[in-house]
Amino acid sequence: MRILVVGSGGREHALCWAIAASPLTSALFCAPGNAGIADEATCVPIAMDDLDALVRFTRDEEIDFVVVGPEAPLVAGLVDKLTAAGIKAFGPTAAAAILEGSKAFTKDFCARHAIPTAAYGRFTDTEAAKAYIREQGVPIVVKADGLAAGKGVIIAETVEQALEAVDSIMADRAFGDAGLEIVVEAFLVGEEASFFALVDGTNAIPLVAAQDHKRVGDGDVGPNTGGMGAYSPAPVVDAAMSERIMAEIIEPTVRGMAAEDRTFKGVLFAGLMITEEGPSLIEYNVRFGDPECQVLVMRLMSDLLPALIASAEGQLAHFDLRWFDEPALTVVMAAKGYPGAYEKNTVIRNVEKVGGPDGAAAEIGGDIQVFHAGTTRDGDGRLLAIGGRVLGVTAIAGSISDARDAAYKAVDAIDWPDGFCRRDIAWRALERG
Ligand code: AMP
Ligand code: GLY
Repeated sequence: MRILVVGSGGREHALCWAIAASPLTSALFCAPGNAGIADEATCVPIAMDDLDALVRFTRDEEIDFVVVGPEAPLVAGLVDKLTAAGIKAFGPTAAAAILEGSKAFTKDFCARHAIPTAAYGRFTDTEAAKAYIREQGVPIVVKADGLAAGKGVIIAETVEQALEAVDSIMADRAFGDAGLEIVVEAFLVGEEASFFALVDGTNAIPLVAAQDHKRVGDGDVGPNTGGMGAYSPAPVVDAAMSERIMAEIIEPTVRGMAAEDRTFKGVLFAGLMITEEGPSLIEYNVRFGDPECQVLVMRLMSDLLPALIASAEGQLAHFDLRWFDEPALTVVMAAKGYPGAYEKNTVIRNVEKVGGPDGAAAEIGGDIQVFHAGTTRDGDGRLLAIGGRVLGVTAIAGSISDARDAAYKAVDAIDWPDGFCRRDIAWRALERG
């Protein structure tokens, strides 16, 4: 089959790496891709928001199946356009991608279908939002309704902060039109987990769970990022918890979306708080997590591609995916300054020494893959950093501490003076022992 993957991040490198290994794949393209993806796929310079150019490319290149990585083209309706053009694609339609595209929709949807989530109010009027905040007290969470690249959430410890958040999102439009409406919700206490299920419209099968590290600094301090590292399995999601999440959150969502004429196909990524009462939905994403996808593909023993096709074709009913028991862990290397301003075009050396089949994995211990995010090559073939999150150094090994040691050895073998990483990935799992 001829496959196109859409996107350019670490998640898309992980997807390309897995899809390239499938015996079903005869040709693999990625739009627009990055320097690491170029080792697995033919990169084509089409921006992921140029939906018409993407559809044209799939026709010209006789693509059989498209895998859409990021949320923006899904929310914009890429899968609808591909389907209309007769091209099969993995991911939800725009009508179903609203689960990520509108937090207010999702909160009301949870209320309609009795899916556990924090108590909330939704507001288009600043004064009404402020009155609700004064009434509820703190801590409280203020969120822009729309897509804000993971940044539209403010956790307020004081009423002052919460009121400021309302003004910054709604009056000053800190996140643009994403802040035309806001959700204000109760602060949940517990441990967070990322839960993934493949959905074919009717059936859902759980994938493995992971934990992300959203804050930029060691010990979970500092501003939120897209994710500084991940590991799987997540000890807080054991088999019993996974069953509860499927029964209380994922399955009612799949049934509810179908009943509301928003049939969901693709991957449902539930951002959860595991509270004392059980799992509570923080947010839905309608795509794989980044960097969670990197650890998932390392743990997946089965061929990923047939599972993605079965999701698109409504054939997941008896589908079985097999996983390695071994834990996997990703350390994200980011440009110094991220998630604020950072320098571009700094040179990275020695990546080829640690990643891939010819790498120094044997020496390091454990199996290492370096998934690229914001990278490119200059005319001389040197690897340059051109984004905030740049590399996802991923290891799979016999234990979480072995995986961590292998990943950090690989990180230390990479020569990039302008990059940094967190040094405590998986601390929660390691603390549990
Ligand atoms: P979101 O973009 O909705 O995933 O929110 C970003 C982060 O804010 C989450 O990963 C949580 O750490 C935190 N967060 C969001 N909503 C809540 C909540 N209701 N209670 C506690 N923490 C939250
Ligand atoms: N790692 C969190 C996300 O992909 O949204």
